[in-house]
Amino acid sequence: MATEMALVKPISKFSTSSPIFSNSRYGKFTTVRMSSTSQSTTKAAAKGGKKAAKTAIKETLLAPRFYTTDFDEMEALFNAEINKNLNQSEFEALLQEFKTDYNQTHFVRNKEFKEAADKIDGPLRQIFVEFLERSCTAEFSGFLLYKELGRRLKKTNPVVAEIFSLMSRDEARHAGFLNKGLSDFNLALDLGFLTKARKYTFFKPKFIFYATYLSEKIGYWRYITIYRHLKENPEYQCYPIFKYFENWCQDENRHGDFFSALLKAQPQFLNDWKAKLWSRFFCLSVYVTMYLNDCQRTAFYEGIGLDTKEFDMHVIIETNRTTARIFPAVLDVENPEFKRRLDKMVEINEQLLAVGETSDIPLVKNLKRIPLIAALASELLATYLMPPIESGSVDFAEFEPQLVY
Ligand SMILES: [Fe+2]
Ligand SMILES: [Fe+2]
Repeated sequence: MATEMALVKPISKFSTSSPIFSNSRYGKFTTVRMSSTSQSTTKAAAKGGKKAAKTAIKETLLAPRFYTTDFDEMEALFNAEINKNLNQSEFEALLQEFKTDYNQTHFVRNKEFKEAADKIDGPLRQIFVEFLERSCTAEFSGFLLYKELGRRLKKTNPVVAEIFSLMSRDEARHAGFLNKGLSDFNLALDLGFLTKARKYTFFKPKFIFYATYLSEKIGYWRYITIYRHLKENPEYQCYPIFKYFENWCQDENRHGDFFSALLKAQPQFLNDWKAKLWSRFFCLSVYVTMYLNDCQRTAFYEGIGLDTKEFDMHVIIETNRTTARIFPAVLDVENPEFKRRLDKMVEINEQLLAVGETSDIPLVKNLKRIPLIAALASELLATYLMPPIESGSVDFAEFEPQLVY
């Protein structure tokens, strides 16, 4: 399968005894999280693996997640005989969009990448690597989920299944491209190992819909905002990957529109009070996670000339406006109280991180964490309980998948 090929290549190239490792030119090449199955790993690679253990992505609450779901329930949801709301002609139209494959020839690298990476040094280099790792993991997580959905829905709804497969093609490309970016820094994420070793978070189908819709749309707004900013301020264009974000983010936008169509086909997920509570909950968790994550990595955003908090607030506001077209309720993110509370959470999170850095014994650390976690939880609850914005439209008359610029 083409989608798998795109991924398998970099994995096998970087994680086994391929010429990459035996070539002294690549002596410093390190695989992040060595594959447990790479029996034929060379000494150099094994050494790289040890080194890599230190740089592997930490499994924390804020790390990009891998998702799994109830595939039997998914099948029932997309069975046209059971669900009369499925608008097959709309899915057919979307399928044609995906088959067009606008970005088939977009992700082609050039020699600028390596040259630019070699010029990035100091703390920015480390933070750049982390950006590539986290983005690659997030893209790869989408690939795994969509690929499995494509496989599982084949019999019940071949059109929806094919769209999922084509979306996994896109995510494989994105993850592969980011992983190639890591190779510019003499690193590679071992995606095969990640697939096996990473914990999977279980979400019921409706939660998968809310979470993935939001992550696609927020991904779109992040990419397009960085792209536009660097277009206007080319002096910060320190690595060419950002030049690819304009077309790249259109993939994410299309993915989001597909989830919008899926939600529309399941009005029970949109039209009652529970749907409103869940919509607000997912908005809150996605926005807070991004804000806290990014505020821990201000060096990256500053390195490309952005003010982290301003960037994040712009992305949150735009994502929220887009989301309001489909979710029955969203947060009032444009109310200054929302940002005030986010900033308070950043402060608490910094204190929590500082506790982790101390030399106290684990028991003392945990005792110190209790009031901070309570403060964070109460801040989250207060933000959640802010008067929401009623939104969405259950008849969706005006909905049409389209490119947003
Ligand atoms: Fe993607
Ligand atoms: Fe996507």
